[in-house]
Amino acid sequence: MRKIVVRRPGGFDRLRLETGPDPVPGPGEVHVATRSIGVNYADCVVRMGLYSSARKYVGFPITPGFEFSGVVADVGPGVSDFRPGDSVMGVTQFGGYSSDVVVPREQLVRLPPELGMVEAGGFSAAFLTAWYAVFELCRLDPGDRVLVHSAAGGVGSAIVKLARAAGCEVLGVVGAPHKVEVALTAGAARVVDKSREDLWAAARDFAPNGFRAVFDANGAATLAESYRHLSQRGRLVVYGFHSLMSHGGLPNPVRLLAGYLKTPRFHPMRMVDRNVGVLAFNLSYLFGELPLFHRAMQDLFDKLRAGAIRPAPVTEFPLERAADAHRAIQSASTVGKLVLIP
Ligand SMILES: NC(=O)c1ccc[n+]([C@@H]2O[C@H](COP(=O)([O-])OP(=O)(O)OC[C@H]3O[C@@H](n4cnc5c(N)ncnc54)[C@H](OP(=O)(O)O)[C@@H]3O)[C@@H](O)[C@H]2O)c1
Repeated sequence: MRKIVVRRPGGFDRLRLETGPDPVPGPGEVHVATRSIGVNYADCVVRMGLYSSARKYVGFPITPGFEFSGVVADVGPGVSDFRPGDSVMGVTQFGGYSSDVVVPREQLVRLPPELGMVEAGGFSAAFLTAWYAVFELCRLDPGDRVLVHSAAGGVGSAIVKLARAAGCEVLGVVGAPHKVEVALTAGAARVVDKSREDLWAAARDFAPNGFRAVFDANGAATLAESYRHLSQRGRLVVYGFHSLMSHGGLPNPVRLLAGYLKTPRFHPMRMVDRNVGVLAFNLSYLFGELPLFHRAMQDLFDKLRAGAIRPAPVTEFPLERAADAHRAIQSASTVGKLVLIP
């Protein structure tokens, strides 16, 4: 097998290709020969040694990667419903950047006809994150106005699609002109390019009474204003802090500290009076919640089948060029999903 290994935390050059013997599935496990592996912004944070669940569950050396698609190569004792040759997709608690992965059978699903093998590799993490944010944490009604930051990115564009499928009016926010069309195609009713216009003036224009939900992975850069622009019964959903990070390979300690200190604190008494809430989550701690995983995937596949959502456009990188994929996603210029092809 070939896999990317990060032996010590650091910059892009820490993503090294290594080879080793093929893994052998144990009881209840399946060995998948991967065909496409999703790249997520979180993988960069893992590489830098700043991702808490990676430190907690794996440490270094580590192979990043939460998701993949591929073909079953072998099954372990007790697995009777998959056989070699089956096309599958799945999630893994790290270790995805590899030509071969072994995961518990419950972390796999069959590839649905609506997904090609390459786009399936980058489907699960972004859409599961978006699904959890939109459907588990918010109870949105048709016609609700919602604001989605980074609306052309992997998770952001998936949130736009799911909120639109729920009948919401979506204001998408993007950081560069070339992303506007992507967010509109995802289903945003209006897109603000914050590099060119005043984001919060446009937000007040779009939703004079505020937003029923704001989905924010920026962190300190926008959290306070996102909270201020909630309507009654509004929810601020926090799922990342990428504005704390620099665009280079290494974290900038001054930026990290400044961002941490600028991160707003929300007072419960004021939340009570405004009827608003702040919700936060990290799916990488929820790998034990397999019924939730299967419920979400089933609902997402139903929506794909009904034509209510579509997978994101995908940019491919060979597995050995994982560093270029990280460079690209950290540059903040990418749209849709990035995948590694082993
Ligand atoms: N909590 C969870 O369970 C969970 C799960 C998956 C992902 N996430 C988080 O969701 C966020 C999006 O992840 P993704 O994989 O879908 O990435 P992505 O949105 O495809 O790419 C990152 C985007 O973030 C924006 N950005 C703002 N500041 C940035 C910076 N300093 N460096 C790089 N990008 C910056 C850029 O978009 P604009 O300039 O257009 O805003 C950029 O295109 C990340 O923060 C990630 O950690 C959380």
